[in-house]
Amino acid sequence: MQIESRTIFRQELVMVVDASESHRRQVEHALMSFYRIATFASTSEALAALQKSPPGAIVIAKGAVTSEALDFVAMVRRDHALSAIPVVLIGPGDDPGIRKAAMECGASSFLAKPYRRSVLIGAISKEINKAIEHRWEKLPTLHRNALVGTMDIFNSVSDVIENGEPIAYSAVTDACGPLIEAVGTGEFRTILSEVRGHDNFSYAHSLGVATLLLLFGYTIGLKGDDLSLLGSGGLLHDVGKMSIPYDVLNKVGALSPAELEQMKGHVAVTTSYLEKCSDLPKNIHLIGNQHHERLNGTGYPIGLKGSELNELARMSAIVDVFCALSDRRPYKSALDSENALQVMTNSMTAALDQQLLALFREMLLDTGR
Ligand SMILES: [Fe+2]
Ligand SMILES: [Fe+2]
Repeated sequence: MQIESRTIFRQELVMVVDASESHRRQVEHALMSFYRIATFASTSEALAALQKSPPGAIVIAKGAVTSEALDFVAMVRRDHALSAIPVVLIGPGDDPGIRKAAMECGASSFLAKPYRRSVLIGAISKEINKAIEHRWEKLPTLHRNALVGTMDIFNSVSDVIENGEPIAYSAVTDACGPLIEAVGTGEFRTILSEVRGHDNFSYAHSLGVATLLLLFGYTIGLKGDDLSLLGSGGLLHDVGKMSIPYDVLNKVGALSPAELEQMKGHVAVTTSYLEKCSDLPKNIHLIGNQHHERLNGTGYPIGLKGSELNELARMSAIVDVFCALSDRRPYKSALDSENALQVMTNSMTAALDQQLLALFREMLLDTGR
């Protein structure tokens, strides 16, 4: 059995420095499902903490007191031990002078208020995953577009969360287009292996689910709009997890009953997010609502069972469990395909549709995964 080393995981810490408590909370809320967050009201507190445990990235927003923020960035850049830490500076408005000064004193990127939540997440992710996303730029166009397009749309869901701003279904299907093509031509393995190193675990998991749902779709002969639906549904099925803090999502050890409820609650949150996007086909909602339901009624949120679960719900459950077992996460080792399938066959016999699971196993064997 191949078990990945736990030491490869970097539970990235993002430090947020801002005198404004409400904006600090806003930044924390946007990033909390992706990273561990430490917030500071002043640069002096932040500097003391920086020396003790350097973060993966710093977000600094100092309202109108920009000179303090600029001095802070310059100080970080001058410190040998800290100089490589990416710093995202948020300014009060898009003043070209401040933007120029921010970049000159060493900020990695500058955002002006008001900014989209997805832009903030994208800026941090880009800095933290620089090496991985840089490698994506060198991939063949189809692979690159599949990764970049789906990641952008995944991050843009955070705008729905923040503003109630809907995502157009056409934007999701467009983003999934290269992925659908790559799965159709059997070129999806590079995409899956490239995304595994990405620190945005929710995105990596969602892309995995989208890819394997598509593979399932091709195997059972689906085409066109049905494939778009599977790819889009896979990508959006867990967006409610963006409401769960990183520390709960990635907790090493048992979740408390309250944390478990919070985790299970991601389905309801996903539903409420997706309902804001009025043009999504109902089967996208079904994938979001029912991928944790189980054939024997032991699933959630409703405890549907047997014939109450259609083929799409059954396929989604299989793909989601398989990806969850194979994902690399801070709290568990990743199982290889064979071991994941064994767990699903031996320990989830009554919970998963074993006929569809046998087909899924064959499909994976055929594609050499
Ligand atoms: Fe889920
Ligand atoms: Fe999932």
